[in-house]
Amino acid sequence: PRDKAWVLSHIYQYQGFWHPTKQLLSVIAFQQGFQAHDTDLLLVTTPKSGTTWLKAMAFAILNRVRYTYTDHPLLTKNPHELVPFLEQKYVDNPVPDLTSFTSPRLFSTHTPYVSLPESIKESKCKLVYLCRDPKDVLISFWHFTNKLRPKNLGPNSLEDVFERFCRGVCIYGPFWDHVLGYWKESLESPERICFLKFEEIKKEPKLHLTKLAEFLGYPFSLEEEKEGVLEEILRLCSFENLSNLEVNKTGKLASGEENNAFFRRGEVEDWVNYLTTEMIERLDQITEQKLQGFGLKF
Ligand code: A3P
Repeated sequence: PRDKAWVLSHIYQYQGFWHPTKQLLSVIAFQQGFQAHDTDLLLVTTPKSGTTWLKAMAFAILNRVRYTYTDHPLLTKNPHELVPFLEQKYVDNPVPDLTSFTSPRLFSTHTPYVSLPESIKESKCKLVYLCRDPKDVLISFWHFTNKLRPKNLGPNSLEDVFERFCRGVCIYGPFWDHVLGYWKESLESPERICFLKFEEIKKEPKLHLTKLAEFLGYPFSLEEEKEGVLEEILRLCSFENLSNLEVNKTGKLASGEENNAFFRRGEVEDWVNYLTTEMIERLDQITEQKLQGFGLKF
């Protein structure tokens, strides 16, 4: 691709998905080098589908006995520090040291299903896939890229980002193929892949937190339910709480992103404030065409 308007000057297609150079190399190293354990838990998303939120909830579920709500790591660390992206571990390092992760190892990835390591596909490890309405993903992604973009380059226009998103030529895109890859697998193996939607968690957070805890193998006891543990976790992981923590207002990830870039509005249908009628129609049409016949809707 030589279109000068594109931010990503070098982007390559690998197994049907688009990756900038460094990301592609790390995805391939991850695909070739990672050895899954049967007890591993893997959180999967496309960028801007609610990864940060899912990481916080899964981490809080797994560690709820270990920490109280005053010394909780989520109060002083960004969820991305606590639950790393596996492919990022493989940036410049084909054999990363993962020995500090104790069982069950909780990781995340944006890697499309087709490019996952065989050891994950063949193991009994569990995957949670979280997706989100593509119109919200697009708007969130547009804001995110502008937040990270060097100031001297000026902002990306919504029109450019929209065009690339529709054509599927954006990181880990095409969005729809990514979602469908995991959706199809989740239908075949529901005990291995739990498929969640951002909008549904927003609507019924308690129900989905319960479902997530059960799937991860850490169900809430009746006692915990009575003691209000679910409410505590939801409050801890809420947008309001996380986005107002000092670490998320001023901190930075080792990879360079400012923590506050991961917290913008955290709402459903913010796209109504940005997309034109034509854009909505075009995106909805692509979504309908791509998902037709698969029993998945946004
Ligand atoms: P918006 O830009 O629409 O606000 P990701 O974590 O995959 O990068 O996605 C980021 C999106 O999730 C952003 O969406 C962000 O605000 C939202 N988000 C982050 N933490 C959240 C939380 N605890 N609850 C709900 N949404 C959250």
